[in-house]
Amino acid sequence: MSNTLPTLTLRVAEARLLNPLIRQFRLRAVDGSALPGYTAGAHVRVRVRLPGGAEDWRHYSLINPSPAPGATDAPHEYVIAVRREDQGRGGSRCMHEQVQAGDLLVIDAPKNEFALREHAGCAVLIAGGIGVTPLVSMAAQRVREGAAVRMHYAGRTRELLAFVPELEQLLGDALSVHADAEAGGPLDLGALLDRCGADDQLYVCGPKLMLDAVLALTQARGWTHDRVHFELFTTPTAEAGDRAFELVLAQSGRTLTVPAGTTILDCLIENGCDPMFDCKRGECGVCSTPVIEGDIDHRDYFLSQDEKASGKVMQICISRARGPRLVLDI
Ligand code: FES
Repeated sequence: MSNTLPTLTLRVAEARLLNPLIRQFRLRAVDGSALPGYTAGAHVRVRVRLPGGAEDWRHYSLINPSPAPGATDAPHEYVIAVRREDQGRGGSRCMHEQVQAGDLLVIDAPKNEFALREHAGCAVLIAGGIGVTPLVSMAAQRVREGAAVRMHYAGRTRELLAFVPELEQLLGDALSVHADAEAGGPLDLGALLDRCGADDQLYVCGPKLMLDAVLALTQARGWTHDRVHFELFTTPTAEAGDRAFELVLAQSGRTLTVPAGTTILDCLIENGCDPMFDCKRGECGVCSTPVIEGDIDHRDYFLSQDEKASGKVMQICISRARGPRLVLDI
């Protein structure tokens, strides 16, 4: 496994529901000492137990709504929030049903792959549902720096949006909340982009549908890639039509079968291999793997269009084979 960050064992100081789907956790050092600092957009990996007993890791962004200087330099607690996904593999159900105040949780020290950049113009934060969590910290950091920031926060219903009071206090008129149920439809992303200035940069975190829409709309408007920063808030899910396929590991000569509901990465791990990975969402690039043969169904946000078209590399945490057989150079 790729992760070399120090591991921490923290006590759950508080676990409470913010709304019917989102549960918030306050995590503190067992001896009450200060925790490693972090910057806005950082996440921690938390060890969870899946149904059946297997252990796995889930990423949760660190939430800090305080614009006070130094608020995240040596914090006395980490705050995370977990949306319950009943259709998921069980990580969020573990966090909702099993973890209680007083329990110990094993996490990795914070890591930031979604940091605010230095730029002129406004940081336009677009949050979809639980994707708000890293953006709360970004809003606080921009306010602390006296830098321009605006947030558009969308969800299906107002009841399912968390942290709205904190954001209202932080951002005032610079926060706009969109509840699909009240507005009669989803947030108008095109209109939102058309109101942005030429120096503005986007920070997007939300479900895949939202991210794909933002990427398509910014591309259609000629926005350069360096103006759009994002984090996808999902784990790989099976898509209609996913099938099992044969996976050949050319260097060892082994042949495995990747079932329809399993990623290549998980299949390798289950079969005793030790592949490199980190995000498991097709974003970080760590699991890039050379491909010798096979039709790749690219689903990541890391490789360029040219790299995808080459058919010579893939992100095994999320992408699959279209055909019956894939040969990897590992
Ligand atoms: S583990 Fe991050 S792209 Fe695959």
